[in-house]
Amino acid sequence: MIALFRNCLLAGAALALSAGVAYGEPEPTALVDQQHCMFCHTRDAPFLAPSFQQIAERYRDVPNAQRMLEHKLRLGGKAHWGDMPMPPAVERGGPLSAEDAHTLVQWVLSQ
Ligand code: HEC
Repeated sequence: MIALFRNCLLAGAALALSAGVAYGEPEPTALVDQQHCMFCHTRDAPFLAPSFQQIAERYRDVPNAQRMLEHKLRLGGKAHWGDMPMPPAVERGGPLSAEDAHTLVQWVLSQ
């Protein structure tokens, strides 16, 4: 039920984006800095890692993507884009709480 509700929200966000409305979530800057996200990612250009826009595009309509990505952000996991997996949170800047992972993934998927 909750997952269904979340999917509706995501679908709404996708519609808003395709209608040309500005980006959804504000950047959680402190978390992004602490976890060095922008060391490997940019918002719109693939660099060492896929861009956040590519990631949002790929997962926007995928059920349970939010939960899968939160888990991956905290603990790492196998690569979905190429050969290089993303290092887990402890190797990026310190442990990441479930709540903070949720905030980050919501932000990425709103790009
Ligand atoms: C050391 C480099 C590095 C840092 C730092 C980094 N990433 Fe990544 N990230 C990667 C790479 C490489 C991939 C592609 C991994 C793959 O193929 O699944 C990736 C993939 C992702 C994905 C998609 C995962 C998937 O399964 O498709 C998300 C979401 C993501 N990063 C978010 C973040 C966020 C948010 C931060 C900061 C909290 C961050 N990354 C920090 C290198 C990094």
